Amino acid sequence: MGDGSDPDVQLEARLVEQDSFEPPESFVEQANVSDDSIYEEFEENWPQSWERAAELLDWESEWDEVLDEEDAPFYEWFVNGELNAAYNCVDRHVEEGRKNQAAIKWEGELGETRTYTYQDLYREVNEFAAALRGLGVEEDDVVTMHMPMIPELPIAMLACARIGAPHSVVFAGFSADALATRMNSADSEYLVTCDGYYRRGDALNHLEKANEGLAGVEHEVEDVVVVDRLGEELPHELDDNQHDYDELMSGHEGDRVEPVTRDAEDMLFLMYTSGTTGEPKGAKHTTGGYLSYVAWTAQSVLDVKPEDTYWCAADIGWITGHSYIVYGPLALGTTTMMYEGTPDYPEKDRLWEIVEKNAVDIFYTAPTAIRAFMKWGEDWPASRDLSSLRLLGTVGEPINPRAWKWYYKHIGDESCPVVDTWWQTETGGMMVTTLPGVNEMKPGSAGPALPGIDAKVIHPDKEEVEPGQAGHLTIQKPWPGMLRTVYNNDERFISEYWEEYSEPDEDEWIYFPEDGAKIDDDGFITVLGRIDDVLNVSGHRLGTMEIESAVVGVEGVAEAAVVGGDHEVKGEAVYVYAITEEGTEGGEELRERVVEGVEDAIGPIARPEKIVFTPELPKTRSGKIMRRLLEEIANGEELGDTSTLRNPDVVDDIQQKVQSD
Ligand code: WTA
Repeated sequence: MGDGSDPDVQLEARLVEQDSFEPPESFVEQANVSDDSIYEEFEENWPQSWERAAELLDWESEWDEVLDEEDAPFYEWFVNGELNAAYNCVDRHVEEGRKNQAAIKWEGELGETRTYTYQDLYREVNEFAAALRGLGVEEDDVVTMHMPMIPELPIAMLACARIGAPHSVVFAGFSADALATRMNSADSEYLVTCDGYYRRGDALNHLEKANEGLAGVEHEVEDVVVVDRLGEELPHELDDNQHDYDELMSGHEGDRVEPVTRDAEDMLFLMYTSGTTGEPKGAKHTTGGYLSYVAWTAQSVLDVKPEDTYWCAADIGWITGHSYIVYGPLALGTTTMMYEGTPDYPEKDRLWEIVEKNAVDIFYTAPTAIRAFMKWGEDWPASRDLSSLRLLGTVGEPINPRAWKWYYKHIGDESCPVVDTWWQTETGGMMVTTLPGVNEMKPGSAGPALPGIDAKVIHPDKEEVEPGQAGHLTIQKPWPGMLRTVYNNDERFISEYWEEYSEPDEDEWIYFPEDGAKIDDDGFITVLGRIDDVLNVSGHRLGTMEIESAVVGVEGVAEAAVVGGDHEVKGEAVYVYAITEEGTEGGEELRERVVEGVEDAIGPIARPEKIVFTPELPKTRSGKIMRRLLEEIANGEELGDTSTLRNPDVVDDIQQKVQSD
């Protein structure tokens, strides 16, 4: 099936040439937001205009003030407001008479399905909240979750929210070390995990890895809850402080837990993400501002309505899943889909089969997935009925116009708007994107900043760039979904995000997301990618420093540099250049150990595409590794200026090695 050899032949000339697209009339007519006065409305009445987002939620007590800038950039939103996130995502929909509506529809990789109505979700969340309390979890205790895409993950998150215990979800694909680092950093004494899960039909042992991670936790871990996902397939034994999820739950059958009243600024969760240094940083998100923000953006950008079947095909272990599988859609009372497995198992139409079977209305994924679909060919989606789709979205990395158009045509049948949404772990929710019922779309360009978001593309001198010129993307006013700090590290919060462009003496605060961008004269922003040492591999954010420290941790490696090389499907791929120690041979055996070292420290997502052993790395006279050059070599590009190198001779040698492999 499918001639995947040349995606261009799958797009006719008409589409290849067209560079802007109007949203279909039929979409606009029914859109949640279709009036362009929304931009003005937000601007004229800022920050009061943000009440619009907060009003999507039920508050126990209303805020006194929308925004407190007193202690900027430690902003506070919806000051003194009180609410509970689980109440907003579950209880109120039950109370509104929609208890029998599906809240979560889940499909396992082997094809089994589970549906949780809002009533079911209410019951499960209450019982697990009672179970956590029973174990001794108190308000403000951080509960870590190391879990794949199984329904118990959102249930556990909401149970935590119910009792006011912030969660810290660690992506299931992360290694034992990565789990330990995050539990240590958050001082987290509780873990929820599972025995295993399916990947490409194989039962993966996850508990073994979680246990290895637990061994690396420096403080005492009170309790571990283990979901039995695989049953007979993976018999497992539990330690004394480990509890089987089902057994625990049966001890709390029928229990109800009052949702704890949380201040708007109380932490809802922590999400660790990669930055410039080796240590991952915990982005702290709050109950009131974050939940308002994701509800508002899910409504205005993803056009989510309660009666929809909505599917964000991301993993809950990343921010996209937190905001747009769990909190945004459930706050709006819609049906959110979850799929456990890979998109090409058992066949390459698996996702389209799920869309067809569930009559999915809205589909949100990453460009790396779209590039894989293109490669597999248009026949796969064509063999399924995708006519239920109304809106498509992408997130995580820049999307090239060709992939955008392929998505628009072969998945959306030219009748669904595509929203290309730029945002980050730190921003909590979408920041730059078109409003699908308002703006025209320009493939490759994310769109204007959302209403109320003050995005500017600037030069290092802080002047705005001319249209079409590249500069740095900045956000010049706060927004409710923003991270409040780096957990336990206010200094790093300032130095990572604010120091570059702010003028503290003048109380002028500018947020710098570390992305390069261009802006057109109509305000459309094209995001060019990270300008720091962060890679975007298959839409997964990885720090080069984290990978480098894993590589130099391998016996026999003296020094290493990691850069991103262009990759057709992954967007970027990990290239490792390593200097071996005297007496160590840079051969196959060492290469395998480097791969192992990286997988142990981070996980298979960081697996190097290429490893080059070299006697020297290109360095400037001041001794800095010239990464730009290594990147050019990885990409087979013409090399820029090498005159500042202390050791220009090594360049040829490295180039030859990369090419000959
Ligand atoms: C990149 C994911 C271009 C960007 C939600 C950002 C994008 C980083 C887009 C954040 C987009 C995300 N176009 N680039 N539509 N969306 N990015 O924290 O470099 O995992 O800084 O959050 O992904 O990655 P993170």
